[in-house]
Amino acid sequence: MKNVNVVLGAFYGDEGKGKVIDYLSGDAKYAVRFSGGNNAGHQVEVDGIKFAFHLLPSGILHKGTKAVLGNGVVIDPKVLIEEINNLKKYGYDCKNLYISEKAHVIFPYHIAFDQMQEDIRENKIGTTKRGIGPAYCDKYERCGIRMEDFISRNFKEMLKVNVKNKNTILKAFKHEKLNFNEIYKEYKEYAKILKPYVCDTTTMLHKAIKKNEYILCEGAQATLLDIDFGSYPYVTSSNPTIGGVSTGTGIGAKYINEVYGVIKAYSSRVGEGPYVTELLDATGDKIRELGHEYGTTTKRPRRCGWLDIVALNYSIRINGLTAIAMNHLDTVGKLDKIKLCVAYEYKGKKTEFFRTNMDFLNGSTPVYEEFEGNFGDISKCKTFDELPEKAKAYVRRIEELTDTPIKFIGTGASRDNIIVR
Ligand code: IMO
Ligand code: MG
Repeated sequence: MKNVNVVLGAFYGDEGKGKVIDYLSGDAKYAVRFSGGNNAGHQVEVDGIKFAFHLLPSGILHKGTKAVLGNGVVIDPKVLIEEINNLKKYGYDCKNLYISEKAHVIFPYHIAFDQMQEDIRENKIGTTKRGIGPAYCDKYERCGIRMEDFISRNFKEMLKVNVKNKNTILKAFKHEKLNFNEIYKEYKEYAKILKPYVCDTTTMLHKAIKKNEYILCEGAQATLLDIDFGSYPYVTSSNPTIGGVSTGTGIGAKYINEVYGVIKAYSSRVGEGPYVTELLDATGDKIRELGHEYGTTTKRPRRCGWLDIVALNYSIRINGLTAIAMNHLDTVGKLDKIKLCVAYEYKGKKTEFFRTNMDFLNGSTPVYEEFEGNFGDISKCKTFDELPEKAKAYVRRIEELTDTPIKFIGTGASRDNIIVR
């Protein structure tokens, strides 16, 4: 039985995953986050209200859906409680939230380390400074504090050891020391609030699989930010790609059915690192303004550029994408001309294969095909046939070059601005 579908980012993040997830989780019994933490920023607009989720699965907005934070997620309790309280203001009681006992907790020392490491790094990564990397470091170092420890009696002792050890390092870097008592006092209150949500989500999901209930896994970050397959070292510290679904939830690969990769009709990147189709000119600025390309999490202006088929085909192969969801067709449709990168030129040779090697990415230049823009207002189009020919031509060419169907097309910001094929 294959009752698990996955939505994940196919580029450098911020592809509009929230909107696609919101659409697909309508009849889902479970909406599950499997990787990352509050470095993510997913927006969903419902009845004119804009919700920005950093930690909670966006599927939580459907009252019949159980929202799960899987074991692969790192959780900043303060941020999570803020998100829960904010949703309560809009009438969502969050009783449909379940947190894996195996998920790791982000503490102030992780945030301090993220900041300190960025400060001392010569080649800055441009992290979100949310403590994500240091929290995953502790997980692999085997000194992390899991949710089950956080809500247990052992928490105080574990925290004490960690704060002491971190302070030794902070002191060596002449950084302000952290106060154990203050942290403990604050965090034990968070633990009390979160305790009712913590459970064995792996068994919960296994039971759901047995009952053939529909599970939707929600990706955060994206393929080109993957710790293994992204543009290392300019990446995040987890696997937002398909492998992360299994390791971050406990769901075996054989239960996975559709894997939807989300892209924009152009591209963007936030933070440092190579970006072959980046536009450092007025067109890039125009895309940023038209697409409102400013970070949901850090408010940073995003770098913008054309859609890159070389990178997309890599993403399709890494994740085994069965279909594509493409947002912002309306945005590129406001430009006079649209370009699509169909190959790279590297050391005088043309290639259609992406590599994450830094020399390759920094030394490659894009080979473009050009398309007509000026689609007019497409926000009211409900079917593919209703789209203007120029828009259809662009979509069809992407499908042809990727040999993958574009099943969802975003035609505007609202929940309803979506064409499903
Ligand atoms: P969503 O889910 C875009 C980027 C950061 C930085 C790098 C490492 O909204 O698509 P980190 O704080 O994770 O250690 O930073 O990864 N990054 C994102 N960029 N969207 C995201 O999430 C991102 N999460 C991390 O900007 O370059
Ligand atoms: Mg983001």
